[in-house]
Amino acid sequence: MTNDEDLRQAILAQVADYYQSVHQNPDFFPGESRVNYAGRVYDAQELQNAVSAVLDFWLTAGPETNKFEKKLGKFIGVREVIPVNSGSSANLIAVSALSSRQLKHGMRPGDEVIVPAASFPTTVNPILQNGLVPVFVDSCLGDYNIDPNYLEAALSSRTRAIFFAHTLGNPANMDVIMDFVQRHNLFLIEDTCDALGSTWDGKKVGTFGHIATLSFYPAHHITTGEGGAAYTRSRRLAKIARAIRDWGRDCWCEYDNPINGKCGYRFEREVPGMPGFYDHRYFYTEIGYNLKLTEVHSAIGLAQLDKLPEFINSRKKNFAYLFQRLKEFEEFLQLPIWHEKADPSWFAFPLFVRETAPFSRHQITSFLEAKKVETRNLFAGNLIKQPAYKDIQCRVIGELPVSDQIMRNVFFVGLYPGLTQTKLDYMVESFEAFFQDL
Ligand SMILES: Cc1ncc(COP(=O)(O)O)c(C=O)c1O
Repeated sequence: MTNDEDLRQAILAQVADYYQSVHQNPDFFPGESRVNYAGRVYDAQELQNAVSAVLDFWLTAGPETNKFEKKLGKFIGVREVIPVNSGSSANLIAVSALSSRQLKHGMRPGDEVIVPAASFPTTVNPILQNGLVPVFVDSCLGDYNIDPNYLEAALSSRTRAIFFAHTLGNPANMDVIMDFVQRHNLFLIEDTCDALGSTWDGKKVGTFGHIATLSFYPAHHITTGEGGAAYTRSRRLAKIARAIRDWGRDCWCEYDNPINGKCGYRFEREVPGMPGFYDHRYFYTEIGYNLKLTEVHSAIGLAQLDKLPEFINSRKKNFAYLFQRLKEFEEFLQLPIWHEKADPSWFAFPLFVRETAPFSRHQITSFLEAKKVETRNLFAGNLIKQPAYKDIQCRVIGELPVSDQIMRNVFFVGLYPGLTQTKLDYMVESFEAFFQDL
């Protein structure tokens, strides 16, 4: 008679066989197979972890999520990691936490947050969702990050924070930004959804500001399918962010704490204004949501974290290769630029179709797509040109010419670890074919 653990191991061994037979890298046929801009990179371990979590059947956030949170924190070098169900949710709890009534000097409706107009939508949306006012500034061409030259012009008596993404993994100029943040006593929120592993002057991006965010959607450096996390050095901010994630409840228990709670007296607490004791798990100090990550996602994330250093190296290597090969088209395509203090863990490879080019972005991306080389726009372009943002309350600094150029003329191709040398070469050949046909 097999015991339960033998049974589990037998199932997991079969899962590994299934991976070998079904999921292992399919053959690549140039011109027929797609060269995706991003994708999941995994082996049998991710499948085994997922199945193992299903066999445990905890389902919601639990012991695997606890492990994931600690392991990710160790990689980044922060104590507080708050896993959530997406990068968008991470951005939402980050801004909401800094707007908490529990913070004496938290942000209040009508306060302003400086943000690049060329942002991912859900970097800006939490500002609006919290009744704050985005102040849009332009970005730099080539590195596609917030242009620090506009920061002073964006400042007002209501400015409380700066929120920006390190675009496509490329660190923004943290020397200038930190100087501005410190001089004006502002909050800094770093969206590192595309920048896990990137450093500025040897320090990980996301550890400069008060709170930072990650996405684990399949295009990102690691994936859990849907998933994300906020992270911070501040225990207080983390407690508030966890409360906002978990329905608004005050409880600081971990997911797998004993019935009586981490404090040991969950049922013997008093609620202000209520006679007698009250179960602390039902005591609410925030207007919250439910944005938790689940066990299956976390179990997959644990396997992905083991591969992260290798993923980052591979992204850097692929970037270097494409940079060197695509240089020959520099007359018409501006290659990405990065600061000498930046060591980007690239998300993708951005290209700007120069105004002088005898072709449009649409022409080159259509050509590449026809060759089955996937391309993407740099997200929303100039966000205020998008219909949803037409009537929002905001301030705009200057004419945002670069954001418009990003919207019109920038696209990116992939460099994720799933791109083999054959695929990278095929990608470069496809560019060559486009320029030969010109
Ligand atoms: C910079 C940036 N921020 C936020 C997000 C949102 O992440 P998610 O798709 O996990 O909600 C993304 C998504 O790709 C992103 O690129």
